[in-house]
Amino acid sequence: MPFAKNFLWGSAGCAAQNEGAYNEGGKGLTTLDVMTLGAKGVKREVSETIEEGKVYPFLKGSDFYHRYKEDIEELSNMNINALRVSISWSRIFPNGDDEVPNQEGLKYYDDMFDTMHRFGIEPIVTISHFDIPLGLKKYGFWLNREVVYLFHRYAKTILKYYQGKVKYWLTFNEINVMSTQPWVAGGLKDPSEQDRATASYHQFLASALTVKTAHEIDSDNKVGMMYCGHFTYANSCKPEDVIHTQDFNHQMMFYIDVQARGKYPNHRLKWYERQNVHLPVEQGDEQILQEGKVDFISFSYYLTHVTGEKTNGIFKGLNGIETGYKNPYLKESEWGWAIDPVGLRYALNTLYDQYQLPLMIVENGIGANDIVEDGKVHDSYRIAYLKAHIEEMKKAVEIDGVEVIGYTTWAFVDLPSLSTGEISKRYGFLYVDADNYGNGTFNRIRKDSFDWYKIVCSSNGERIE
Ligand code: BG6
Repeated sequence: MPFAKNFLWGSAGCAAQNEGAYNEGGKGLTTLDVMTLGAKGVKREVSETIEEGKVYPFLKGSDFYHRYKEDIEELSNMNINALRVSISWSRIFPNGDDEVPNQEGLKYYDDMFDTMHRFGIEPIVTISHFDIPLGLKKYGFWLNREVVYLFHRYAKTILKYYQGKVKYWLTFNEINVMSTQPWVAGGLKDPSEQDRATASYHQFLASALTVKTAHEIDSDNKVGMMYCGHFTYANSCKPEDVIHTQDFNHQMMFYIDVQARGKYPNHRLKWYERQNVHLPVEQGDEQILQEGKVDFISFSYYLTHVTGEKTNGIFKGLNGIETGYKNPYLKESEWGWAIDPVGLRYALNTLYDQYQLPLMIVENGIGANDIVEDGKVHDSYRIAYLKAHIEEMKKAVEIDGVEVIGYTTWAFVDLPSLSTGEISKRYGFLYVDADNYGNGTFNRIRKDSFDWYKIVCSSNGERIE
């Protein structure tokens, strides 16, 4: 049996993209609520607040707020034993800095976790999946050290409230997105390198304080960091291509170093020196980072890149990354993401070799324009994608001995895409009857992949045919 008996098989989503109900239950607005609809090749805009005449896909999400009970029950029919969700900071502290937590918000997630346990599903909870309370704008969001303490207070509140109900926690979703999509990661518009470094530094502190508190509250708690899976191949064996590829890895993976090893790697400190960037270090911070090392590394995996001389430290493009190269050996999704199952085995080995910590794949999936035919969705391409990736994960475990503790696909139901806002970029096992403008019943339909994944989960990954 390649997978341990308690291997976590599940799926993932997050508050901002799933819940909707942006102004119900006492919730405050977030930095993601005010992002408009985009498309492939059309950038999403960020408004000051909700403006008349514009489309904001996350206001409705996939209506999980109202349907979580039915959704969880339906997902339990797939025999998953884990479900990754996130808590919206602004449901607990609507403005981010309120004096007392919002009881309605606390109760909402409490009931969600109870529902999961009723169906034998282990919650995996992201504390911050990009949605920052808009009320923290007056602090400059993550540029201000005060936000570290506000986050820590929020984290402490939920860690205490859900003690015994949630064991697996992730601090910040895709923390390295600060390098590629700074609004999404930190509420920053056109930041300087100094701003990015400051905001990330604050998030590292907030994460470390949270890890320590989680362990103090319950020694059973397992807290992970979450890396946006940017893995790359050198365009050629030309030494310059390889050096630029190494540089790309340094730029991306230092986020893991700080959280897994409790300190910045030298190459990053040297890079800051050259950029004239100064980290806002205060006395005692070194110890905070050291004491707040994570228990495991989680990551998302959708695609791989090719890098080389042309990449030269430039990060741009809709999904945050344009490296200047395409991989001629790989096919792409409809949204231009290079499909690379073998790369997942490479990624797992890379992370395990480097950090020697347990790994969890918390996002993996394909965004596709699913079609409903006679009330059914035949998503054979999704089955093929997931199957090929699970096979490679299996090899990493079985042949290479990598310690993988869980796998959650993206996503359990269709949900508006982060990069484009389109719900038509569908990822779910459950189809959601809604269009990109929020029209539709939001009713769910099982896709073919639902029945297929049920076999995978029921057999603990033995049967992936
Ligand atoms: C990850 C995010 O980057 O990728 C998710 O954690 C996101 O929030 C997912 O939805 C897929 O990306 P996209 O842009 O297709 O939604």
